[in-house]
Amino acid sequence: MLINKDNYHTIWLNEKSRSSFSIIDQRLLPHELVIMNVHTSDVAASVIKDMAVRGAPLIGVTAAFGFYLGTLEASQDNFDSYISTVFKKLAATRPTAVNLLWALQKMKAAADGVQGIDQKRNAALQCAIAIKNEDIEMCRMIGVHGLELIKAISKTKNGEPVNILTHCNAGWLACVDWGTATSPIYHAQKEGINIHVWVDETRPRNQGANLTAFELGQQNINHTLIVDNTGGHLMQHGMVDMVIVGSDRVTAQGDVANKIGTYLKALAAKDNRVPFYAAMPVSTIDWNIKDGVKEIPIEQRDQNEVKYVSGKHEGKIKEVLICPETTPAANYGFDVTPSRLITGIITEKGISPASEEGLKKLYS
Ligand code: MRU
Repeated sequence: MLINKDNYHTIWLNEKSRSSFSIIDQRLLPHELVIMNVHTSDVAASVIKDMAVRGAPLIGVTAAFGFYLGTLEASQDNFDSYISTVFKKLAATRPTAVNLLWALQKMKAAADGVQGIDQKRNAALQCAIAIKNEDIEMCRMIGVHGLELIKAISKTKNGEPVNILTHCNAGWLACVDWGTATSPIYHAQKEGINIHVWVDETRPRNQGANLTAFELGQQNINHTLIVDNTGGHLMQHGMVDMVIVGSDRVTAQGDVANKIGTYLKALAAKDNRVPFYAAMPVSTIDWNIKDGVKEIPIEQRDQNEVKYVSGKHEGKIKEVLICPETTPAANYGFDVTPSRLITGIITEKGISPASEEGLKKLYS
């Protein structure tokens, strides 16, 4: 997608040496566009942990390239033990996004499937490239399917904009290209459908304000930033036609973990009969668990992310304290929206009810 009218992916292999990859440092957006080179599996783990890259699909792709760098660091003698340490180190970075484990398991299977260190490195490289390319295609297809929902609503609007509310950033910056929640929006734009997006700022790290607003603006999509608690009011006044969010993990029965605050939007949507969709690729489905509230591990992050807010002042990016210094804060990264509150799940294979039966039908 576009940044300053140039086409970007969020992550790319440095083709010349094939021994490093590059990412956009998302901690500095929207104020600065900084490209960061990642040369080691340690740095790959830290860019995920410190959220220079974030968003479930991109976390998976970054882990895949990080694993590949691990195969370059390992020697003939210690290959298996070194790679198992790299696997564990990358897997421990962000507990909620299941795409991370999905990608690492694929990478391990690729390396295990061949003999000889050069062959293992090459298999890991090819697998990481394939995971990246697959993500682009899955997100594109999520857009193709989700577009039909927007089209249907737009037919009832007599040329007025279709108002879509989204939470956090589930855009192309959270993936490689297109995004999950935003892909139907970008496809609708291509079809000339009049759309407007309500962007939740998404405390504590403000991924909505910093990233979703940035990428929608770069793509010329009509949007308005709102504070996190506005959604319910807008829905009561008929100002939201649908909600589309992303997800970090979906259970086999269709419960959806996503950025903290998503559940409250789903409750408000249900109360106001606003359709609520979650969009994600198959890599986000965890077929091993059913009850999301009980079984999905919820990441708890540093309390300073709640106590401090970062922004630009007089040309410089600064952090400011917004509460008494000694106030304790809790920082739950995600919450779980039970399937009963979800109108449908938009995937690369089509749209399914949020139920085990529905998801299985798509993926059988
Ligand atoms: O903590 P983050 O920024 O990684 O959280 C991201 C989200 O919650 C996204 O909405 C989710 O990963 C879906 S990404 C397409």
